[in-house]
Parts: sequence; C-alpha cells; structure tokens
Amino acid sequence: MSFATLLPRPVSVTPAPGSCPWPSTVDVRSAALPAEGYRLEISPSGVVLHCGDAAGEFYGRQTLRQLAGPSAFRAVPLDALALPCGVVEDHPRFGWRGCLLDVARHFRTKAEVLRFVDLLAAHKLNVLNLHLTDDQGWRFEVPAFPRLTSVGGWRPSSMVGSGGEQDGRPHGGFYTGDDLREIVAYASVRAITVVPEIDIPGHARAALAAYPSLGTSSSYEIWTAWGISTSLLDPSESTLDFFRRVFDHLLEIFPSKVIALGGDETPGATDEHRGFVRQLAEHLVSRGRTPMGWDEVLDIPGLPPMVIGSWQNETAGQQAASAGHDVVMCPEQHVYLDHRQADHPDEPIPVGMVHTLEDVYAYEPALTGPRLRGVQAQVWSEHLDTVRRVDYMAFPRLSAFAEVAWSSGERDYAEFLPRLRDHHLPRLDALGVEYRPLDGPHPWQTRPGVPGRPR
Ligand code: ACM
Repeated sequence: MSFATLLPRPVSVTPAPGSCPWPSTVDVRSAALPAEGYRLEISPSGVVLHCGDAAGEFYGRQTLRQLAGPSAFRAVPLDALALPCGVVEDHPRFGWRGCLLDVARHFRTKAEVLRFVDLLAAHKLNVLNLHLTDDQGWRFEVPAFPRLTSVGGWRPSSMVGSGGEQDGRPHGGFYTGDDLREIVAYASVRAITVVPEIDIPGHARAALAAYPSLGTSSSYEIWTAWGISTSLLDPSESTLDFFRRVFDHLLEIFPSKVIALGGDETPGATDEHRGFVRQLAEHLVSRGRTPMGWDEVLDIPGLPPMVIGSWQNETAGQQAASAGHDVVMCPEQHVYLDHRQADHPDEPIPVGMVHTLEDVYAYEPALTGPRLRGVQAQVWSEHLDTVRRVDYMAFPRLSAFAEVAWSSGERDYAEFLPRLRDHHLPRLDALGVEYRPLDGPHPWQTRPGVPGRPR
C-alpha cells in the first residue's frame, strides 16, 4: 500500500520500510501544530500521534484508518490489517469544511443523520449545516410552539420531480430536542460542528401553516410544490418576538458559535422584512453567537458582522468580505450536489447545472484572504426522497470536495481519479455508500419519466 492513497491528501508524507499491525496502540502526544493538524510516526513497533487539539487527534486516527485499507471502514474489519511505516504530517487548508444537508424538504431519520455525520467525518469535513425548516416542512421541535411540528412537520403530498404532478403520499417527521442534542454530541466527538438553520423570512410556509398569525393571510397550506414561494413572514413585532423565542430554544440545543437564519429567496421583500432579518441577527449577537445568512442579506443595511454563505456566485463572497463579513463559499455553479452529475438522460431527475465529479474537484474559490472561512457543499433534497438518493448525489462528488476543502496546492484530476477509483471507492463500498458509479447510474438509480428542470 502506498501513502499516496490518502484522501484528503496530506501535506507531507515520508514512507519508510516495514509495516505495523492495525489496530495498533497509539501513543498520543501533545505538540504545537497548526489547528486540526497532526503528525503520525508509524514504525514496526507502533504509532506515535502528535497533535495540538482534539480535532488533530481525530484526523490522525482517521488517517490511520485510511492507511489500513478499505476493510478498516467496515463495521468490523474482516482481515488482519497493517499500516505502512513512515511519517505523515498534515493540517487542513480551511477551518470551515462544510456540507449542508436539507432535512426540511425530505426528512432524514435521526439514524440517517448520524450515518451522514460518520461519512462527513470519514472525509475530514467539519461542519454539518443542518437546514431544519422550509416551506415544505419544519423539523425542529419547539415545546412553546407545538404546532410548528404537529402541523408544520407534515405535508399531504409532494411534487414529483419538476413537473406539476403530485405523488399523493403524505410525508413528514421532526427531531425532538433530545434527538438534536444526540446528533450534536455524536458530531462533536467526530470533530464536527452542527450549524443549525432556521430559514426566515421566506422559505417559511411550514411555520405559516402552523401559526397563520405569523403571516398576513388568514390561513396557509404547507407547500407541496418545489420552488420559491412568495409567502413571507409578516415582519411584525409579534412575529419577531415569536422567532426570538424559537432561536433562543435553538441556542439551548446547539452550542455552535455560528447560527444560520437563512434570508434567501424573498420575492417581494420590503424594508420591513430586511429590518426583521437584521433584528434577528442582532438578537443572535446579543446572545453571544454569530449569525449566518445567505448572500441575499447583503442588501440589508446595518447588519452586524456575520458569516455569509455565498451561493449565488463568486462575487457575492467578495462583496461580503469587503463589507466586513466572514465568508463561506458555496456557489451553485460549482458545489450544489443536488445538481445533475452528467448531461445524460439517465441522470435521475436532472435539475440544475451539470456538475461532474471533475467540475467539483476543480472548484477553487475566487476569494482569498482572512475573510474566507472556507467552503461548503450543498445537498438540497427536493428530489432526494430517500437516503439512497442522497448517497447517489453526494458521492463520490463529496469525496472530491473534501480534498478541495482540506488540501493545499495544485490539484490534478488525472492524478485524483485513479486514487479515487482504486483506493477510495472501495472504502465507500466498505461503508455501504451507494455512490454514483463513475460511468453512470445503475439501472435502479435512474428515474425514467420523472421530469427535471435542467439549466
Ligand atoms: C439557496 O440555495 N437558496 C441558498
């Protein structure tokens, strides 16, 4: 086994002759290393792992697993494994190596979210941006407002693909506070921060259906279609008070310094809506947190310093940085993993732009400098109604993205592809990930006849 099989790529490797049995006793020693960095010294007599923080130790151990071979990714290794001897020194390029998972459009069970956390951890990604609320579902239990989940957590039907047809099948689910605390704790020991998102003042039809007084009509239906709804929250003092309480409850569960409040896609928004978003951002700041919003919020005057998710294009991130905000680059032109993976009729529900594996691997943020916190891939779930569909769209593109987020220096797809094919796909197989095969979907992964909306 060669050290070159690592993914994400380490900063430096020095192979040495010999091998060491795995699992091996690991002698962990603290050292002054870059944040999340580690140094592994593997010799026939054992492993010494130097690290400066808990994340560094975790990543050192992940690298040992990568070096041991695919069987180390099974729930129980089936073979006697060995580690190649040598020294690996490694630290990440970005402090924010994120993935958004949309559990609002299609609910993912708690067990599925925990599995997704495991998959992020195996790729040394460190932020799970959990999109908890949208027009089609509210997934976050708030005891003071039980209708958010008893009404807003359920819809009678869903749109099939991007046509007008409905499936007529009820869909729903939500997480209790304890479910979410468990997810947060599980992620934390895997060096992952869960950044929750409650989307306001648009993408809020589920909340409006639960409590119509948050809006301007007498009644609302939870949305059973996909797209951009024109129903916005009424930016009144009472709606503000309601959402301050919702966010306060969110803060009791999520220790993340960064808390996301959405702010995207608000057709017809007025100055009052903009003021509403600003006041909720200020509320989060008053509670010691940093608000995160999508780049549309840059239109709002007087915002406190925020983290901006630059999704519409590269220039939004540059504008955000110039305005004094930190930036996470997640442009839909490059890292939207719900977009189709090839321009071929076999791709299931072909929405969005073509983002091939090679395109994702080639992504390089235009913004540089201290305001750039990192990068994030986005798994929106309108068309991903099962965990198998999530696997298909996320992998192996998320594996390519993990290298973009972790590794510095030139990337060469011709060098990456055999490394992925020969060494990393077997790890995904061992983990039981139903990724898209490199040459196109399995027959059961296509969705013949279900319309998409390719761009
Ligand atoms: C987004 O894709 N509306 C953030």
